Amino acid sequence: MGRLDGKFAFITGAASGIGLACAKRFAAEGAAIFGADINKPSDADWEIIRAEAPTSTFTFLDVTDEAAVKAASGLALTTFGRIDILVNSAGVAGVGSATDLDTDEFQRVLDINLKGSFLTSKHLIPSMVEQRSGSIVNLSSVFGLMGSDNSLSYCVSKGGVLQLTTSLSVDYAWANVRSNALCPGLIETPLTEIVKQIEPLHKEFVSWHLSGRPGQPEEVASAALFLASDEASFITGQALAVDGGLSTGRRLFPAPGL
Ligand code: NAI
Repeated sequence: MGRLDGKFAFITGAASGIGLACAKRFAAEGAAIFGADINKPSDADWEIIRAEAPTSTFTFLDVTDEAAVKAASGLALTTFGRIDILVNSAGVAGVGSATDLDTDEFQRVLDINLKGSFLTSKHLIPSMVEQRSGSIVNLSSVFGLMGSDNSLSYCVSKGGVLQLTTSLSVDYAWANVRSNALCPGLIETPLTEIVKQIEPLHKEFVSWHLSGRPGQPEEVASAALFLASDEASFITGQALAVDGGLSTGRRLFPAPGL
């Protein structure tokens, strides 16, 4: 018995990192996957997904393009007949502060990280309302909960994702459509490879995590699985930090053993 047996999941950002880890884990738990991404996933990754859930399918999608999101949503619904789970994992990093941030770059990050999640919600929620069931999992960030330096567009977009999440939960709880957010800390994916390459920055960032280590995409996928599944049937509008304790507090004294 899988925890998502008989469910159909639409996952953006499914070619890499957290979205890909969700696709693999959800498939292993019995869901069929409609993966969408602007980039192609590796054949090897998709073979793993199809081995678990043979009807799974992938489509190219730019989440900022409403006509394309509408078409992909229609295709997913035609292919599977229903979508039970939406995971919004497509996203990009954003660097810069207010005084040095190009306005078009600010808009680009908001369009991918925030507008994209709005558009998939807009075009998939009607079918969830009709079937009186659905679970949306949005990828926010610890930087949706708190600020950080030199990443204004990213923080603004991820704060927006939290409000998108709560607004959706308030609007559609009556129809049994739930909406929750995950707030990961530093997770080792292609997105954060650049951080890993700058040793002092990486060391400092890792030290913010009480766990003393970064997270893995599979650890975020485990949390996404719970929120997506019926095990979380009475949970909506929540933000769950998956951050090794980063957002809970700081130690004043070195941890024993570190
Ligand atoms: P990633 O770079 O490994 O994967 C992101 C995926 O989004 C890529 O496959 C990329 O092609 C896709 N994408 C980018 N623009 C797109 C567009 N316009 N349309 C469709 N797909 C697009 O990144 P990762 O780490 O898996 O991040 C996933 C989500 O989790 C993002 O929203 C990110 O902000 C969030 N997150 C990641 C953290 C980390 O430390 N890795 C921490 C907190 C949040």
